[in-house]
Amino acid sequence: MDGRSPLTKALQQKLTEQRPRPQSAIDEPGLKDLVEWAEKAPPGDFVEVGVFRGGSAWFLYALCKEQGRTLYLFDTFEGMPFRDEIDVVPVGYFNGVSCDYIDALYPEAQIYKGIFPGTLPRDLYGLAFVHVDCDQYRSIKACIDFLVPRMVPGGIMYFDDYLNMPGAKQAVDEGLQGVESFNHRGVWVKNGV
Ligand SMILES: C[S@@+](CC[C@H](N)C(=O)[O-])C[C@H]1O[C@@H](n2cnc3c(N)ncnc32)[C@H](O)[C@@H]1O
Repeated sequence: MDGRSPLTKALQQKLTEQRPRPQSAIDEPGLKDLVEWAEKAPPGDFVEVGVFRGGSAWFLYALCKEQGRTLYLFDTFEGMPFRDEIDVVPVGYFNGVSCDYIDALYPEAQIYKGIFPGTLPRDLYGLAFVHVDCDQYRSIKACIDFLVPRMVPGGIMYFDDYLNMPGAKQAVDEGLQGVESFNHRGVWVKNGV
């Protein structure tokens, strides 16, 4: 990657003309906040676990393209794969979006279909920003266990559901210290190696 220029309004406009923005399960203030944090990421690549229709990925893809980063996207593309007692989202929820649709929308992204972390490539390191939007305890725990060691110092892990999904809160509180929360979201910055 070569730069850290922000995703300006003008760029957003240009990108919307090129590629329609899919609806996101995240509200507009949430998306704005996500972009603001993503813009603070150090050099390195981006990951999103929990893509659904690709609404939040639209912003991350645009930012990655602008800044010469690679975006890695992980989803079952068959809806929520499991639900433990602590979770609130039913199995199969968020179904109905194919991997091919996301592939056509974001041709330069690396897309992995299936249950994370089983789909995680062994050689994926150097992560600067990780958007964790996969709702369930087990999925979020897997993001922390498998992706934190692959993040660069100063890398940012952003939890969309930290305070509004009980499984998310439990996974984050068990796995990480120093999470900063605001509204229902949480952000953790990796210090050291
Ligand atoms: C809330 S939706 C993502 C919303 C999306 N970020 C947006 O902007 O609309 C959660 C997604 O997480 C996915 N998911 C949850 N756990 C997963 C896992 N372990 N592996 C792969 N996908 C998972 C579900 O399939 C679902 O599509």
